[in-house]
Amino acid sequence: MSINPNDPNTWPEAARALLRRREYATTGRPELIALIRERIEAQGPLSFAEFMRLALYHPEHGYYTTPDLRFGREGDFLTAPETHPAFGALVCRFLARLWSRMGAPARFTVVEAGAGTGALAAQIWRYAAERHPDLAAALEYLLVETSPSLRARQQRALEAVAANARWLESLEEIPPGSVEGCLLSNELLDALPVHRVQMTARGLQELYVGLGDGEFCDLPGPLSMPEIEQFFVQVGVMPPEGAIAEVGLEGVAWYRQAALCLGRGVLLTIDYGYPAAELYTPERPRGTLLCYYRHTTNEDPYRRIGTQDITAHVDFTALERAGEEAGLQTRALQTQREWLHSLGIEEWLDGRERWPAGEWPRRDLIALVHPGALGRLRVLEQAKRL
Ligand SMILES: C[S@@+](CC[C@H](N)C(=O)[O-])C[C@H]1O[C@@H](n2cnc3c(N)ncnc32)[C@H](O)[C@@H]1O
Repeated sequence: MSINPNDPNTWPEAARALLRRREYATTGRPELIALIRERIEAQGPLSFAEFMRLALYHPEHGYYTTPDLRFGREGDFLTAPETHPAFGALVCRFLARLWSRMGAPARFTVVEAGAGTGALAAQIWRYAAERHPDLAAALEYLLVETSPSLRARQQRALEAVAANARWLESLEEIPPGSVEGCLLSNELLDALPVHRVQMTARGLQELYVGLGDGEFCDLPGPLSMPEIEQFFVQVGVMPPEGAIAEVGLEGVAWYRQAALCLGRGVLLTIDYGYPAAELYTPERPRGTLLCYYRHTTNEDPYRRIGTQDITAHVDFTALERAGEEAGLQTRALQTQREWLHSLGIEEWLDGRERWPAGEWPRRDLIALVHPGALGRLRVLEQAKRL
């Protein structure tokens, strides 16, 4: 076949791969972009939640679904378990305290949702085996993960460490009230689809995703469902006039479902976010939408579609309410810095505890509690029958 400079299909494979890499780093996955464009052309503007669901979770081309997703230092963002293994050790300490408070039952179930590479689960299992063998013997570990490629990765990570681990695709597979132990997530809820709204002089308007001059753009319109306004009524705070805000209806629905799974124990949620009164303020006129690509952040979700992460802060007031309605009691809402100190991170900071063996940069340990880094995440503990 002769080479036509205007038709990449005629180019040699190396040149096509180079073009693909350039597209991934600028506009995103061409198949996904075409699919979203076609959907808007056929059905009209999409809610931002629908757009975010396609960008992150499309079964073939979504950011979290494609097998080439890179995590940690190689990837786009660093979560606490990817930063330093002391994080998993301290979560394990939390679990050991809870297990003992529950009367050291013979079976203690931990459900971890959205486990990424499985790093946290592996750290928990290793620390439990070495420091809390009684807990390790009682531990049953369920991983709930939507992405098949990440499930496979977690299975590889846990093969040699976790004696008793199982995988589920969705929380729906867990019978209500059946979990006796802890249901936990780290940076899951900030990656769930959100609607976007803007407060105007005439009330809330939704920001849809439309096409303008052939490019994706925000398109204001009436609210797609009454639950959006209800969300703000229930948390008791409205965004100030002119401000944009995200509405995490899916996050709250997920959390309610998680609360219902718990029979006895703690629902532990670690994420970026604030109580409602700190989220919808004139200091955040553009909302909290943030995209991650190779450890840089930007506020443009219409770039690198399918190749950058999209996040929005969690409204912890909405979660607390949902949990309480489902029969849970709030034990604490604090920063990750406060929470890790309460579990004894000083022992690592002052060198008394050196688990696991090996050299770990001190700056990574500090990042777990630094207020400008991961220390600012919030940790919500809600309990049932404790
Ligand atoms: C930002 S990553 C966090 C990974 C990990 N917890 C960590 O701290 O490194 C979000 C994870 O949640 C998963 N996920 C997204 N929606 C989910 C859902 N509804 N149920 C379970 N997992 C989900 C993603 O596939 C991914 O594994």
